[in-house]
Amino acid sequence: MSIFDQLIIPPTAHHTDLLNIFLVFSMLLFIPYASVLLGASIFSVYFKYAGRKRSDSIYLRFSKDILDKLILKLSVGVGVIVVPIFSITFVYAQLLYNAQVISVSILLLSSLLFTAGIIFLSKFKNSVNLENIFSSIRNIVPDKNKIPDNVKTLESENYSSSNQSGITGLIVLICATFLYTGAVSIAENPPKWDSVTNILGFLISPDTWLNFALFVTGALSLTSASILFLFFRWNGGVKDMSEAYKKFVTRFSVLIAFISTLFIPFFLIIKFLITPEIALSKGVFIYSGLALISLLLVCNFFYAIIRNSEIKWSSAAFLVLIIAFTFIIIKDQVTLANALKKHLLVVNHVADSIENVKFPKNVKATEISGEELYTTKCSACHQFDQKLTGPPYDVTVPKYNGDVKKLAAYIYNPVKIDPGYPAMPNQGVTMKEAEAVAQFLIDKVKQETGK
Ligand code: HEC
Repeated sequence: MSIFDQLIIPPTAHHTDLLNIFLVFSMLLFIPYASVLLGASIFSVYFKYAGRKRSDSIYLRFSKDILDKLILKLSVGVGVIVVPIFSITFVYAQLLYNAQVISVSILLLSSLLFTAGIIFLSKFKNSVNLENIFSSIRNIVPDKNKIPDNVKTLESENYSSSNQSGITGLIVLICATFLYTGAVSIAENPPKWDSVTNILGFLISPDTWLNFALFVTGALSLTSASILFLFFRWNGGVKDMSEAYKKFVTRFSVLIAFISTLFIPFFLIIKFLITPEIALSKGVFIYSGLALISLLLVCNFFYAIIRNSEIKWSSAAFLVLIIAFTFIIIKDQVTLANALKKHLLVVNHVADSIENVKFPKNVKATEISGEELYTTKCSACHQFDQKLTGPPYDVTVPKYNGDVKKLAAYIYNPVKIDPGYPAMPNQGVTMKEAEAVAQFLIDKVKQETGK
């Protein structure tokens, strides 16, 4: 975190609004693509494994078609997943400036894992393509003995590397997703910041698991909807599909799509129920409602496909599902903005002070009222004539003999003085503010005690 602390500057209020908008756009890119990547690699790795085990050509073909259609090339994956997740991490680091919360470190870890996962999966995709080349060589050369040895060696190397990269990629991606969903859910829940301070606390937090479950069901739903859409509708779909294959793909995808889409509202509602009150607002209700309605509509489309095998509904299902995802993403961002409101008030304030130090012309000396500062920042610990957490001013201030600069220096950067008291925490005031409050204290003490 210490590198981050130096890299990250606190956002001003205006800057915060921009960050929120930027966050929504990054997520609109990241969440759908990451979801489909996760779902597609689950399906593709599974059907490849099961297809080899049972020598089932339909399974093997399904695995390969998913790889072709749904798993992105490395360069595209970097553009739509890696860049957005790093941007998201950077925005969170700024929004959560100075907050004692584990989310930013976890997000950084998740970004690195997403990068690794995408690299493994593109390796998987390449080696499956190679496998197909080898099998066409076998088809052309009927006599196995005529295949040169080095080709055979390459083939068996490729075989084991495709197994490894597929499974490794999938596991890394699952871990990345888990960390991402957890980090985001903790950030939305400030009351949890203090209790979830290490990886163990993070692992056992129910919010993390709930958000993960929501993401995975969303991923399965969007992936199967994409399969239906891309295999059968988009650009004429996949070529040369046998009837048996078509039937298998449709039945499998629509069933997974239907069931997982039914689960999303369930998880959304539980999540809504455990959202802390400070994070709720009218916007959260409205966007949740819109998401639920769209999901219901999507379920209807899937049901139409199941009942009447009317594959034409897959385009509508896909489109409305994307709309539902958009509503959920906006809802999450509204929740986050609500949850961080109090935290950001302080952060924006710090940012303004930094800006004022950098551009002092913005400071109008008359605007800083020493008395107001005293009431808002000091009176919780200090009275003039009695001891609270801090010593009474009537006792301490006269030590400064009216030296405003010296007193301001202490207020600006308190040091340990009296062993009978704890150290005074730094109040984060600017030098100008410190001077204003010092002047006020000196005047007031003089007025009251004559000293
Ligand atoms: C969280 C409680 C807390 C807050 C808030 C706080 N102080 Fe203090 N302050 C203390 C404590 C505790 C001490 C005693 C520290 C010591 O003796 O080392 C202290 C000491 C002081 C002293 C005496 C220094 C000396 O020379 O003995 C001054 C003056 C002072 N504070 C001013 C302020 C001003 C001005 C503010 C608001 C901007 C403020 N404090 C806010 C807790 C607080």
